[in-house]
Amino acid sequence: MGKPARIPLLTAVVAVALGGVAVAATAADAATTLGASAAATGRYYGTAVAANKLSDSTYAGILDREFDMVTPENEMKWDATEPAQNSFSYGGADQIVSHARAHGQRVRGHALAWHSQQPGWAQNLGGTALRSAMVNHITQVATHYRGQIYAWDVVNEAFADGGSGARRDSNLQRTGNDWIEVAFRTARAADPAAKLCYNDYNTDGQNAKSNAVYAMVQDFKARGVPIDCVGFQSHFNAASPVPGDYQANLQRFAALGVDVQITELDIEGSGQAQADNYARVVRACLAVTRCTGISVWGIRDTDSWRAGGTPLLFDGNGTKKPAYTSTLNALNGGAATPSTPADPGPGACTASVSLNSWPGGFVATVRVTAGGAALTGWTVTTTLPSGAAVTNAWNARISSTTGTVRFTDAGYNASVPAGGSTELGFQGTGSGPASATCAAS
Ligand code: XIL
Repeated sequence: MGKPARIPLLTAVVAVALGGVAVAATAADAATTLGASAAATGRYYGTAVAANKLSDSTYAGILDREFDMVTPENEMKWDATEPAQNSFSYGGADQIVSHARAHGQRVRGHALAWHSQQPGWAQNLGGTALRSAMVNHITQVATHYRGQIYAWDVVNEAFADGGSGARRDSNLQRTGNDWIEVAFRTARAADPAAKLCYNDYNTDGQNAKSNAVYAMVQDFKARGVPIDCVGFQSHFNAASPVPGDYQANLQRFAALGVDVQITELDIEGSGQAQADNYARVVRACLAVTRCTGISVWGIRDTDSWRAGGTPLLFDGNGTKKPAYTSTLNALNGGAATPSTPADPGPGACTASVSLNSWPGGFVATVRVTAGGAALTGWTVTTTLPSGAAVTNAWNARISSTTGTVRFTDAGYNASVPAGGSTELGFQGTGSGPASATCAAS
């Protein structure tokens, strides 16, 4: 009984693996800008933009050379677009959208419904008056930009920090727990071609807050509430570093049937440490098929809302920082990581498994590291605990879904330079394996 059911699943897995061949950039065609390098993998690399900086030629020069997605930093927020009730003002936002159109950049719309940066008149509303005002706001703004927005952050930051898993208290929340789904349905009706996202911070790893967002997305999918994507703001610093399970967390959301995007990336720091973190973010996104792109929250350090933390890719003069170079290299598939694991010897390879588990399921990320000689092909073998089954795999072809499973390179990632490494991953039901072995092939 099990066998016929497995065949389509395996076919699908192989198709996913082979699907990467067409879009993966090779070292030979490595692009030289962030946008082009991301595009070679079918993704975008974007930035937040402030309308009043478009006349700064250094700023606009970097923007148009490097980035292929823009997010208005403040210009599409409620206070900017509807300063008086039912009186709309699109000056700054229109400027950014037309700049983007003229330079072949797409636009992320940010944000239709949010507790913050509301105009004073809305802050003072509640109950049905606020609910109607929110619906009217979403309808008007999404209709104004209908067909011109790649994805809308329909609702921003609606969950509380900490361990409660509760909604954040706000005037919008007090209009009723269904305000989020009403916002999404309203946005869909007004701009049916745009992807509709939920966007938040402190949800980048698995924690009580991201679990609550996960449950909401799962519920929306089950009930047919229109949601297409989840945005992970990814504002990182020493107190809030890039989480160890970043990729696994992106993957578990993607497995719900939504795209995932890194929407407001900035990482405080400098030098190689900052560069390494930026590269980790790229690698996490590239490893998740439905991670469709990354946006940084500003261009130069001096443009940042957290300028003191020098968290961006260009310094105040517009010069590329080490974080820029590591981002570009990671987008181009460069394997160089500063902390290469111990050399397993010529011709050999090692596999290390990192596991993200939750009740009933797991995502495993396996890093394959070449020894003293380059690999031209590899096979990772692992034995799943009884009752576990692989439901989806990426960057590898798989031999079976249960028991002892062999993961063979997907072709485009067969070559690994001496000391270099590459990653594959898989998701499954039950519990995941703690270890795996690697053999050159
Ligand atoms: C920030 C802007 O960068 C600032 O210019 C503004 O003063 C405050 O908002 N989460 C979000 C963004 O979703 O809209 C915020 O942007 C940063 C945190």
